Amino acid sequence: LYVGLDVGTTGVKGVLVDENGKIIDIQSGHLTIQTPKPGWSEQDPLNWWKAVLKVLKNLSERSKEAGGRIRAISTSGQMHSLVAIGKNGEVLRNAILWCDQRTYEECKEAESLLGGEEKTLKIVGNSILPGFTLPKILWLRKNEPDVYGKIYKVLLPKDFINYMLTGIIATEHSDASGTMLYSVSEGRWSDQILDAFGISKKFLPDILESNEMIGKVRENLVKMLNLDEEVAVVAGGADNACAALGVSVIDPGDVMISLGTSGTVVAPTGSKVPDPYGRVHFFAHVVPRTMYHMGVMLSAAYSLEWFKHRFLKEDYEVINRQVMKVPIGSNGVIFLPYLNGERSPHKDPYAKGVFFGISSYNSKWDFVRAIFEGVAFGIRDCFEVIEELNTSVKNIRTTGGGARSDVWNVMIADLLSREIQKPLINEGASYGAAMLACSGFSSSSPDQIARRWFKLETSVKPSLENKKEYDKFYYRFRDLYKGLKSFFH
Ligand code: XUL
Repeated sequence: LYVGLDVGTTGVKGVLVDENGKIIDIQSGHLTIQTPKPGWSEQDPLNWWKAVLKVLKNLSERSKEAGGRIRAISTSGQMHSLVAIGKNGEVLRNAILWCDQRTYEECKEAESLLGGEEKTLKIVGNSILPGFTLPKILWLRKNEPDVYGKIYKVLLPKDFINYMLTGIIATEHSDASGTMLYSVSEGRWSDQILDAFGISKKFLPDILESNEMIGKVRENLVKMLNLDEEVAVVAGGADNACAALGVSVIDPGDVMISLGTSGTVVAPTGSKVPDPYGRVHFFAHVVPRTMYHMGVMLSAAYSLEWFKHRFLKEDYEVINRQVMKVPIGSNGVIFLPYLNGERSPHKDPYAKGVFFGISSYNSKWDFVRAIFEGVAFGIRDCFEVIEELNTSVKNIRTTGGGARSDVWNVMIADLLSREIQKPLINEGASYGAAMLACSGFSSSSPDQIARRWFKLETSVKPSLENKKEYDKFYYRFRDLYKGLKSFFH
């Protein structure tokens, strides 16, 4: 049996699967975010670890009940979030998360040090945006020199979990490429970038392949978790790359739309060239020697969760039912889903959420439908950039919590005027991590396993008539951002 873990923003999830990819059990643990100042987002890495231990203990019990033996564990995690550890492996401060917006100044300084936006794109393959790891390191050096002085290694969330599991410090290409310290053309830490910022390579872990074995689970944990001896730990990967692997989005022409806390549009590409405007990211996949473009919305399913938590008493089933009764266009209400700024395509950490077009006629369900539509409009915004870069899109598959809602699947099919495929297993990044565990333990590559395990549940066909109706509101949505942009700063 294999375990795939995902260290997400709202929780840790673990899946236990057999060698054919059949799910035996799923366990999860809840996480919260700390917001010490507006725009800041932090978590204590030791809370991830506690949740991981609980999930692993339960999965270990279930493996025994199922009469199986866990052979390997692999972990996926939030991308870009900075974990700083000291010489003895101690956590030096809270992790600064991917959705944290404190480093706008550092991003501007970094881009100007590299010779401006165009040169930065050439060197880094991406625009440097506040969520990424490099500007967080620069912020730490400037604002918390004491902590900075004690740093032994800078880790990504899943690398921290791997370290706690094995005692070994390492990373792999998919997460390394999201730090902005990595050369996408050379496939290694970039000396040019490290030299430019005076950051020592000693800070950074060695880079493995995502399906490479790091080591074994430490002996004391084997006992504590009641695991069998010799459980292998496989490097794992960035959550979006793992989620894409999990729905077999591995070749140019495949696209994954993930509707989690963030919303992403991931498109593997044969191209070696990033988006010339940096509107979407350009990172390494967990499939060796494969790159992907990715559009990222910072508040996708989170927008709905935020509204539900603040204003609604109804559960998701009722919400979905009510929203389907509201006509396309939400009776005039348009929502801009920029509650935490936005990355793609605007690259604007100051962007704000907006409800526009409210009249005395509107009911609360118009607002809720406007949230669904605003998120779907944001996905189309990202998809159009991806299409511009990868002309021949063949398969689009949805995943993540939001993709359990057919309201969103149908809306996105209509808006993109494309068939949307719904995978049979919708467990997001944890399922891709389980594929990496299996790949690391067997002689099959991650893509071979993805092809073998992936099954389609159904497809949603688009309606041309609805597309025409949606178009009017989509263009208004785009114009609204342009018109309001200057007010956000
Ligand atoms: C991607 C990103 C988010 C996190 C969510 O660039 O920042 O999707 O990976 O965990």
